[in-house]
Amino acid sequence: MLLAPSILNADFLHLQSECKMLDESEADWFHLDVMDGRFVPNISFGMSIIKQIRKTTAKFFDVHLMIAEPEKYVDEFKDAGANSLTVHLEACPHLHRNIQQIKSMEMNAGVALNPSTPVSLLKDIITDVDLVLIMSVNPGFGGQSFISHSIEKIKELKSLIRQTNSSAKIEVDGGISLKNGKEIINAGADILVVGNAIFSSGNRKETIKKLKSL
Ligand code: DX5
Ligand code: ZN
Repeated sequence: MLLAPSILNADFLHLQSECKMLDESEADWFHLDVMDGRFVPNISFGMSIIKQIRKTTAKFFDVHLMIAEPEKYVDEFKDAGANSLTVHLEACPHLHRNIQQIKSMEMNAGVALNPSTPVSLLKDIITDVDLVLIMSVNPGFGGQSFISHSIEKIKELKSLIRQTNSSAKIEVDGGISLKNGKEIINAGADILVVGNAIFSSGNRKETIKKLKSL
């Protein structure tokens, strides 16, 4: 299992030390949540902040684009240091084209599904993507509660991946903690995104260590 902490709930006044802590921790990836105030009702940060964070670590940058028209910014996120770009199916009428565009720039390409979007809509794209991000909260904010129906979606996605011989990894994002992490892994998750449960804990490195050993 790979652990991808989301820095959304980090202390932005001390972003350098927060990133250093993640760099030194057992965390595998950095999960970077980009929000535009259009696709989701919140605005977070963009490529200039990601470029700054890139100076603090060599770890893999998993960029989650919660933005409309993501195809306009693929080059800029690549330049900022992204290793993987995940776009929302709901934001992309030309998803196949968008996935090919990301792959042509030598990044991993992911597709994210909102809680109300069925897994069955992935049937014709599942062999083209490197990962599928199952949103287990409605995107836009950290610290929300895990939507339990996501467990069924993870299992359904796992079976679609098996049936199609796809190499896509399953990433789950939202409301994950030490309490429910094991159940999510057992359902078939390969990558866990965790924000609040890490950044609101007293000893963050210790929480990361415990999450890694679930
Ligand atoms: C939600 C983001 C998530 C979120 C995860 O829109 O995509 O990455 O911040 O944070 P927690 O673990 O706090 O739900
Ligand atoms: Zn995210």
